[in-house]
Amino acid sequence: MRKVLVPLGARSYPVLVDGGLIDSVGPRCRAHGWAARCAVIADGNVAPRFGHRVITSLKDAGFNPTLITLEPGETSKRLRVVEKCYDALARHRLERKSFIVALGGGVTGDLAGFVAATYLRGVPFVQMPTTLLAQVDSSVGGKVGVNLSAGKNLVGAFLQPRLVLCDLATLSTLPEREYRSGIAEVIKYGIIYDAALFRRLERDMEALLKRDLAVLGPVVARCCAIKADVVGQDETESGLRAILNFGHTIGHAIEAITAYGRYLHGEAISVGQVAAGLLSARQCGLSTTEVERMRALFARAGLPVSIRLTKAQRMRLHAAMRLDKKVKDGEIKFVLARRIGEVAWGQAVKDTDIEAVLDELARNA
Ligand code: NAD
Ligand code: GLY
Repeated sequence: MRKVLVPLGARSYPVLVDGGLIDSVGPRCRAHGWAARCAVIADGNVAPRFGHRVITSLKDAGFNPTLITLEPGETSKRLRVVEKCYDALARHRLERKSFIVALGGGVTGDLAGFVAATYLRGVPFVQMPTTLLAQVDSSVGGKVGVNLSAGKNLVGAFLQPRLVLCDLATLSTLPEREYRSGIAEVIKYGIIYDAALFRRLERDMEALLKRDLAVLGPVVARCCAIKADVVGQDETESGLRAILNFGHTIGHAIEAITAYGRYLHGEAISVGQVAAGLLSARQCGLSTTEVERMRALFARAGLPVSIRLTKAQRMRLHAAMRLDKKVKDGEIKFVLARRIGEVAWGQAVKDTDIEAVLDELARNA
């Protein structure tokens, strides 16, 4: 088993990475001395697969859990569903010392975390991520929240989990497209922080795509360690944490202009990271060889690396980027790479450069 600590003083917590961890959740929660009544929140794809094992482990450890099941998909990440969860928690009579377990992907983790942050002004919260994206990104770092019709993640809080259990075995049932989407975030960590991780991915991509646990374990643990290091230095994103958004400004805008229907998040940020690489070559000195290595690695992971947008779509893309949370004083700020493994944040980029990069992205589409 691999263990990563998220270093936040009294709120520090471990991220455990191994196969078969979900059966150990009961005794691990017991060690915290929480109240018997608790809730497990999972969606309709995850609850039938793993819910009973989590419930059994909690019951065997003396807890009294209730299972709350959500409709799968991003549309569950909204306030109406939060309210339904509150009602279920009240019916089960959760108390201040009760806890909530998020079992599932990033949608479940973000929603359940927001419920935990606000029910009874906050109850303890455990993350059990079952998608690759959730294991390497959303379950670590304490950003929780829901969407509004005006935009994604507009209502939220910071609530650090007390424990994160990344059970690698749960990834075996993840649909192929969802798995590859998670690899886009994995590659991101290599680009923003760790050239050796990037080289390891270049070497082991085929084994990673086969979900070989011998490769997956160290890779997931390394991604969590990078995120823990960044969050430990800048929990509330006043600076450094912004580097986790490499490729996300254009990626989020692509998701928005395609109504969150055409691309999975990882697919959109794959294109976004190639775009950020091209912008980096224009103004940060990233070599064309390194841009090509980035593009080749995303392509080997089966992720999109080009996009052709109409003139109208380009206008909507610029408008969507201006709505991004990273806009400061009306200027869009980008994370750009100096080289693979080292980035700079808060970089202003000219619209003409974005247009030139969109031309380049269209050339191979
Ligand atoms: P998701 O939670 O919707 O899961 C993707 C799909 O996989 C769903 O249909 C789900 O039911 C299914 N699934 C999950 N685990 C499974 C398993 N083991 N086997 C079979 N099916 C399984 O999506 P996601 O990609 O995990 O997360 C995306 C969300 O994460 C977005 O809402 C995004 O905003 C959020 N996010 C949050 C953070 C953060 O820091 N909080 C970071 C990145 C992304
Ligand atoms: N996924 C970006 C962050 O956690 O800050």
